[in-house]
Amino acid sequence: MEKKDITRRDFIVNTGKVIGAGVVVTTIPQFLTSCEKNETVTLPPPPSNFYTLDLTPYPELLSKGGVRKIKIAGKNQGNDIIIIHHQDDSFKVFDTVCPHQGCPVNSPSDSEATIDCPCHPNAYSSVTGDWVAGPYSGLVLKSFEVGYFDATKKTLEIKI
Ligand code: FES
Repeated sequence: MEKKDITRRDFIVNTGKVIGAGVVVTTIPQFLTSCEKNETVTLPPPPSNFYTLDLTPYPELLSKGGVRKIKIAGKNQGNDIIIIHHQDDSFKVFDTVCPHQGCPVNSPSDSEATIDCPCHPNAYSSVTGDWVAGPYSGLVLKSFEVGYFDATKKTLEIKI
């Protein structure tokens, strides 16, 4: 029988192989078992940056044609907003800061009238906020996205 000398290095390498094989043999079944579990992960709700405005104090906004300038505490940098309930039952919400030089714009006389700036004066669409008349064309009055209007709860969601 042939005698084979085993070096210290060979011993360490072979021992490592045996230990490694043992780890693989005991770990794979546990790994597969954990993959078989049908775990339900509960994700947090998506962030909602819509502000729910209570329209109870503004009954005119509950009806088509209603217009109201209001201030929401802590919103829009303290500036008023104009809320318009159009005849087609859609809502529009605009900033009151004129995009020309910042004068506060007036509420439209009705839901389909223009939003007028008294300073120079420009006029903006009550539907899109786009410039429609006046010396400074191409400007757009800032608007806020509107979410769900709940006529029963008398609330309007505004992304503000
Ligand atoms: S500030 Fe409104 S048109 Fe100039």
